Amino acid sequence: MGLRGKSIVVGVTGGIAAYKAAELVRLLVRQEAFVRVAMTANALHFAGPVTFEALTGQKVMYDMYGQEGTAMEHIRWGQEADLVVIAPATANFIAKYANGIADDFLTTMMLAASARILICPAMNTKMLLHPATRSNMDILAKRGVYIMAPGEGELACGTSGAGRLPEPEEIVEFVATVISKKDLEGLKIIVTAGPTIEPIDPVRFITNRSTGKMGYAIAGAAARRGAAVTLISGPTNIRSPLGVEIRSVRSALEMRSAVIECFSDCDMVIKAAAVSDYRPARFLEEKMKKGPGDLVLEMVKNPDILAEIGSLAERETDGRKRVLVGFAAETHDLIENARSKLNSKGLDMIVANDVSRKDAGFATETNLVKMLFREGGIEEPPLMSKTDVAELILDRAEAIRRKKLGLSR
Ligand code: PMT
Repeated sequence: MGLRGKSIVVGVTGGIAAYKAAELVRLLVRQEAFVRVAMTANALHFAGPVTFEALTGQKVMYDMYGQEGTAMEHIRWGQEADLVVIAPATANFIAKYANGIADDFLTTMMLAASARILICPAMNTKMLLHPATRSNMDILAKRGVYIMAPGEGELACGTSGAGRLPEPEEIVEFVATVISKKDLEGLKIIVTAGPTIEPIDPVRFITNRSTGKMGYAIAGAAARRGAAVTLISGPTNIRSPLGVEIRSVRSALEMRSAVIECFSDCDMVIKAAAVSDYRPARFLEEKMKKGPGDLVLEMVKNPDILAEIGSLAERETDGRKRVLVGFAAETHDLIENARSKLNSKGLDMIVANDVSRKDAGFATETNLVKMLFREGGIEEPPLMSKTDVAELILDRAEAIRRKKLGLSR
């Protein structure tokens, strides 16, 4: 997610959602960020510093006068950090921060901070909607503070409404979006992901093992880097990435319609979906009955979506110089088969996937790919998380786009 090596201060204030901050910190540490935690005195009633110290390996600050060394942590932390995230942010903390009150370690650090600031309000709905809280949040938003909208649902006070702290995974995604470079700003990118399903009758279909993880990782990374992303997705069980427009499709024919519809207004297409090459020749309106013998299913060929947009791109007249990136899922002759798809489909780049491996391809968290380019050359990165592979694909695709347009790097 691009958080490796980033310095993040998590500020925890005194609300029941403080327990969720432990999971937030754990996830940030897992992303290899350097995380430090500062707590208010009220937060100590809800969560213990020992928990955060164990998770980060760093001393937790909550006492202005308990600082070590030069006793300048309240100045240094907010200046050394790439981001300060306050989760949960109570109405009291927001009011103090908006009005420049500095009466403890965390609020003092905020006034001296030069890092980007993200606050995640969490409180009772009436407190959230109170004119004082709203006007304090307006003040902060105008100052350039990022504010993550709280979720809706059951609240600790027994009522239901807006005011829930978003789930830690969602906060991490927001953090990554705030921190990420914005080199794809202004671009429109189509990503396809997941399997297609080709119906036989009302209860049966043909599909494949794609989970959508690879395509969703690409869509999420492109959105974090500032692109307007349309994710055309077959059926999956994964949460839609932040800031991405999702178009849900089922069959290859539906995916084709969606891709063709969006194609004229895009700069890049990355096709990670596993599209069924064939579909049953007929859809049976009623459930097929078991017969006495074997069953032979007649299949017809699906359109090759990538080849179709490849020939559209060849004929483009609007000067947009679209970049087309395909994937090749292979169990043998990886390079030869991928190169043949690169050429026959008119692509700029193809990402070859050896799907016979246990740690790459379908349904894995990691991927091992080889990237082949129209202009020649093969790049063979090591085994990486799908998120890291996504970043690399976007780096290469953007470099191709810039080169096609004659732009400097
Ligand atoms: O979703 P995951 O579980 O994370 O798995 C990731 C993945 C293995 C699905 C992904 O990394 C991958 O390799 N996707 C491509 C799968 C595939 O269908 O490969 P292919 O070699 O059959 O197709 C080549 C390219 O043509 C692909 O970009 C495909 O989207 C496209 N295609 C294929 C057939 C068709 N009718 N239309 C197409 O556009």
